[in-house]
Formats: sequence, structure tokens, C-alpha cells
Amino acid sequence: MTADEQKRAAGEAAAELVEPGMTVGLGTGSTAAWFVKALAARNLPVRGVPTSEATATLARSLGIELIDLNDTGTLDLTVDGADEIAPGLALIKGGGAALLREKLVWAGSYRCVVIADAGKVLPRLGRFPLPIEVVAFGHKSTAARITALAWTTGIIADPVLRTSNGAPVRTDGGNLIYDLPCGAIEDPAALAAALNDLTGVVDHGLFLGLAERALIGTDRGVVTLYP
Ligand code: 5RP
Repeated sequence: MTADEQKRAAGEAAAELVEPGMTVGLGTGSTAAWFVKALAARNLPVRGVPTSEATATLARSLGIELIDLNDTGTLDLTVDGADEIAPGLALIKGGGAALLREKLVWAGSYRCVVIADAGKVLPRLGRFPLPIEVVAFGHKSTAARITALAWTTGIIADPVLRTSNGAPVRTDGGNLIYDLPCGAIEDPAALAAALNDLTGVVDHGLFLGLAERALIGTDRGVVTLYP
């Protein structure tokens, strides 16, 4: 199977978890898109809360009713992709620059299920550069403080401003993304806590203790992982 076929299998398996009447968080990225398509194909009476403008556009085009996070109360289930999945279902997310809305929707959900191809599962986080969302004002100053903070957690690296076609990438919230090439992250919780405390950082792509299970597309079918 190709990685995309594995993503599709995981997305379709996750759509089977949805029940009529649920309010469902809709993730962002190519794997989440397979979930959204499979969910739409089931034609259930559900309401979706999109984690990005891109996902909102896709879901709307497929006829899924959308609802604003402000109007939902707690969501029943969120299904989303990830860039890396390590033991304990520690995740790196944000490769699609949607990490803030994703984390907000995840935080508002009873259950969060991560879906991915087998290549995303690793013994340790850090091969994928960690996305960090920062406010645009003074972002170079914030980046310098991220470098200093990373050193204190044993990571010798400079964050790289994410660009596309020569221009800085803007998130749906109008912020910027810096990617921190961490290498192995020895203590993800310590790094997450330090980033949470850094002025100018809006949020980061470490999703720890949030996923209740992972559905991984593999050549031997969809495998379920638990924390
Ligand atoms: C977007 C994300 C995505 O879930 C992550 O980048 C995985 O993307 P894909 O399913 O396309 O591999 O976190 O911000």
C-alpha cells in the first residue's frame, strides 16, 4: 500500500466510529480529508466543527453541516491526522499550519482519535520539525527566545520561519509558524511546558495526553494503538 492508501484506510476506519447525532471535530491535512470524505459518504445526521478554513471548505462541499466551536458545548469526537506518533500517543502536529484551531477543537472534545499512515509511528518524537505558532509582532525576538529556551531543554537548534513561495506562511488566525528541528525530543512534556510559558508563542504542535487511540493504516490492515 502507498502512504496515501494507508491514510485512506485509517480515515475510513475512523468514520465508522461516528454515530448519528454526534458533534464531530474535523481535522486538517490529507489523512483528515479522507476521514471527512468517508464521513460524508455515510450521510449521517452529524454536525462538524472544522479545524481550518481548508477543512471547512471541503466539508461544506460534501454537504456536512458545520457548527461554530462557540456553539457546540463539548464535542463527542474529534478525528485528526498527525505528523509523528510516539509511545503514549505523544504527537507532533501542525505540518498543515492548523495546530492552534486543532488543539482548541481537541481540547473541547470528549474523545480524540488520531489517524495516520504507518510511516508516522516512531519510537521517539523529533524527526519532524516541531511547528510553533507565534504572533507576527516581534516574531524574530520570539524566535531568538525559542532558541534560548530550546537550549535549556537540551535541544541545540534554531527555529526556521515557515514560508511558501517566498512569503511567510500565515495561519488561519493570522499568526506565523516557526519550525524547530529538534532531533530527538527527550522530554516532550518539559519542552511543551516551557513553550507554553514563552511570551509571543501562541501554541505549539506537541499534543500530549490528548489522543485516546490511534488508527494506523498498514499493509496488514488498520492497527489500533492506545496510550
Ligand atoms: C495539520 C496537521 C496534520 O494533521 C498533519 O500535518 C498531518 O498531515 P497529513 O495527514 O497530510 O500527513 O497537524 O496542522
